[in-house]
Amino acid sequence: MAAAEVGDDVFVEDPNVNALEARVAALLGKEAGLFVPSGTMANQIAIRLLTQPGDEVILEASAHPFLYEAGGPAVISGVTLRLIPGDRGLLDPDDVRAAIRPPNVHHAVPTLLSVENTANRGGGTVTTVARARALGEVARTAGLRTHLDGARLWNAHVATGSPLAELAAPFDVVNVCFSKGLGAPVGSLLACASADLPRARRIRKMLGGGMRQAGILAAAASYALDHHLARLADDHARARTLADGLLAQGWRLVVLPETNLLYVRCADAHAVVAGLAEHGVRCIALAHDQVRLVTHLDVDDAGIAHALWAFSRLPPTLAGA
Ligand SMILES: Cc1ncc(COP(=O)(O)O)c(C=O)c1O
Repeated sequence: MAAAEVGDDVFVEDPNVNALEARVAALLGKEAGLFVPSGTMANQIAIRLLTQPGDEVILEASAHPFLYEAGGPAVISGVTLRLIPGDRGLLDPDDVRAAIRPPNVHHAVPTLLSVENTANRGGGTVTTVARARALGEVARTAGLRTHLDGARLWNAHVATGSPLAELAAPFDVVNVCFSKGLGAPVGSLLACASADLPRARRIRKMLGGGMRQAGILAAAASYALDHHLARLADDHARARTLADGLLAQGWRLVVLPETNLLYVRCADAHAVVAGLAEHGVRCIALAHDQVRLVTHLDVDDAGIAHALWAFSRLPPTLAGA
């Protein structure tokens, strides 16, 4: 990062940003890329890009733009969200087909399907290439455009061995994040068709995401791609070790981990978070009865053993009935 050559990315003059955008667009099988500060901004640009005010966006009921983006779709794009409950966060193509309402003066116009891979609140679950293709086909047939919130698409790729471009192919626009499992400090990227890029760039500017000298951040993202992609398999293996250990202690899991996210059921999530924090284990309460654990490049085997030990020190009543 310190050695990165930089330029002004608002003028498309930062060599590291330009190189990263080209590299990741190619990885995802898209024509163009746009470096942005966060996954939230990438999702919001995608929604603004692919809708008009008054449109309806179809998403799984626990999708990030609905749960965790501060109401952005309503404010930034003026759209309504049609939420479809999925199985562990995964959308069923038949459910999506059934939810797409025919043209009628009473209806908001469904124009966009947004799919999350992996599904964060679903438990880091993977939308396979087959499911992604089926979802894309349903959307295309009904004339909807498609967005992939691939904040953790890297994990889906490593968990399944499916090429990134195949996982991304059914979607018009794709968000990937460098600041999660890949371990870069900042940054996400929106990949799209060349024809969509000028408008996406303009929306990024409108949202304040045009950055000067962003090459230091792009350099970190490139480093993460070079060094931290294949090792996501270690995170997945450690999540399974953690799951096995917790089950052996009598804890219940919301779902078995497919990737690097693990949701643990408990009687009082805030008490569990506080109790683990006393032993230096940090996690987040995502519901009153669920904590989320994440394995990542700062957690090694000793860290997993320590986390299991810390859980074993909690009062058994916290595991719930
Ligand atoms: C699935 C998903 N999409 C988007 C985001 C937003 O990313 P950011 O925190 O960089 O805004 C997150 C963040 O955790 C996420 O889990």
